[in-house]
Amino acid sequence: MYDRIGLIKKEHSKHFGSSPEAITRGPGRVDLMGSHTDYNDGFVLPVAVNVDVMAGGRLRDDNKIGVYSANFKKSVEFSLDNIEFDTVNTWSNYVRGVIHFLKEAGVKLRGADMVIHGNVPIGSGLSSSAAIEMATGYLMQTLNGFEMSAPDLALIGQKAENKFVGVNTGIMDQFISRLGKKDHALFLDCRTLEYGYVPLDTSQVKIVVCDTMKRRGLVDSEYDLRRSQCEEGARLFAQWYPNVKALRDVTSEMYDEHKADLPEVVSKRVAHVVGENERVLRSRDVLQAGDFVEFGRLMNASHDSARDLYEVSCAELEAMVEVTRAAPGSLAGRMAGAGFGGCTVSLVKDETVEQFLEVVRVEYHKKTQLMPSLYVCTAEDGTGVVERL
Ligand code: GLA
Repeated sequence: MYDRIGLIKKEHSKHFGSSPEAITRGPGRVDLMGSHTDYNDGFVLPVAVNVDVMAGGRLRDDNKIGVYSANFKKSVEFSLDNIEFDTVNTWSNYVRGVIHFLKEAGVKLRGADMVIHGNVPIGSGLSSSAAIEMATGYLMQTLNGFEMSAPDLALIGQKAENKFVGVNTGIMDQFISRLGKKDHALFLDCRTLEYGYVPLDTSQVKIVVCDTMKRRGLVDSEYDLRRSQCEEGARLFAQWYPNVKALRDVTSEMYDEHKADLPEVVSKRVAHVVGENERVLRSRDVLQAGDFVEFGRLMNASHDSARDLYEVSCAELEAMVEVTRAAPGSLAGRMAGAGFGGCTVSLVKDETVEQFLEVVRVEYHKKTQLMPSLYVCTAEDGTGVVERL
């Protein structure tokens, strides 16, 4: 592991002629359960993982923000009075968006210089975007010293993603990146934002994330299409049950009663979301009881439903799921995040992790001619300060 804190300090001195006052980290995440439930006001069960974006910064005397990306080796500078979308350095829009919505929330910010560096693979479904948003937001909070609850900072990150960057995602990614807890999964009710932690002892089982190396295609357009199909489903159910505001309010009994009245595609989408919400609730209970085998079955069922009913899989994800389910010590294999490429997530018995990795590498390559990137993950704390100087 190279010294990323040292790198941030070095780049800060090189680009801004000073040293950072604070360095924060915002982790990436992987969803163990809860596929496309968050924007339906449903339930999710993600973990924050041991890849992250770090942000180091120092206040400056004018009202400008200077940002250097140590990954892209590019700088931008903008004024706090006029924060515009950057069509060239698009990575900077996550920083700009968070700062824009902090200001909109009434927070008084001073100018700052910052250096960011991430090791979350981009575009693979581990939410590098939530990681940079939370690292930035928390750096601003630390440097300027304003009060803001952790869920509120997550909501600022989601606004930045939805309204500044322009990707219409749910709250899961920012929430877990901000509020993750070491050796725990987080259970979140995406409607009320009530949450709780479920112990996840990674000395017994490891969370292995397998990047198919297929960069996610179609995500934005297909994601928006799924969202609108769900909204249509909720509208239809509201005719029969006026209390239905989102698919979260539809039970499997209600679905069975009316499935014949729904357009075919909408029926499939609703069936997935209704079943997945029930599975997330069950998975929380079985994980609480330490039953990894049943938890793994629920993860597999989640994937199968996302593939067959929600139709967000692709050939590479299917190849990876097949290989990871059959590999030594595997308890499950399911797609992570939005689907359409990116990563899968498996639970793997600790004593067989090395064999698992070897078999997955060989077998996935045989099937696809692609060489996967594999990450043995631990469940980590959410966003925090790594160094205060
Ligand atoms: C992406 C989004 C999340 C969530 C998942 C699907 O990761 O960012 O908000 O909707 O897809 O569960």
